[in-house]
Amino acid sequence: MNPRPELFSLEAFTSIGLMILILLVAAQFLRPELKVPPVSRDAPLPADVKAIFKKSCYDCHSNEAELCWGDQIVPGYWLVVRHIKQGRSHLNFFEWEKLTPTERKQKLWEAINHTLLCAMPRADYVFMHAPANVSDKELTVLKKLSGRHGR
Ligand code: HEC
Repeated sequence: MNPRPELFSLEAFTSIGLMILILLVAAQFLRPELKVPPVSRDAPLPADVKAIFKKSCYDCHSNEAELCWGDQIVPGYWLVVRHIKQGRSHLNFFEWEKLTPTERKQKLWEAINHTLLCAMPRADYVFMHAPANVSDKELTVLKKLSGRHGR
């Protein structure tokens, strides 16, 4: 006689595990499309500033997202694509020419300040993409650009 209830049997665990595995594999085929529109014109920014944004922001705020293999796995992939679509709709460095001169100034100001306040890049993204972290040295470059001193 087995004293344990049926639900906790090894067989039940194995089959539930197998079912989850099958569902996960099947879910890999549910892939929302991520468009990569042609590069129109990249925002004209000083080279050192551009390098920082390119490294830390372009995955979500331009039309060139470089997804690592970890980003490609569902369900993480769903989250990544959502962030990219949302990020692009708020700010897209590749669609700079669509903005008026005032809007450009405003977007650049927002971009710098979101970074200085550590609101961007998103913490969950940096957790998965350590090199995207903005270093203190890079923050100094952005501070200089914004004319701000001290944080
Ligand atoms: C993982 C994707 C991702 C990365 C990387 C990322 N962002 Fe964002 N960003 C978003 C999303 C999503 C939003 C909109 C929702 C929100 O505020 O969280 C956003 C919003 C913004 C906004 C607000 C724009 C507005 O109109 O309100 C600014 C400014 C911004 N990001 C700047 C940056 C900068 C600068 C970097 C790099 C230092 C960066 N982001 C990196 C995803 C990202």
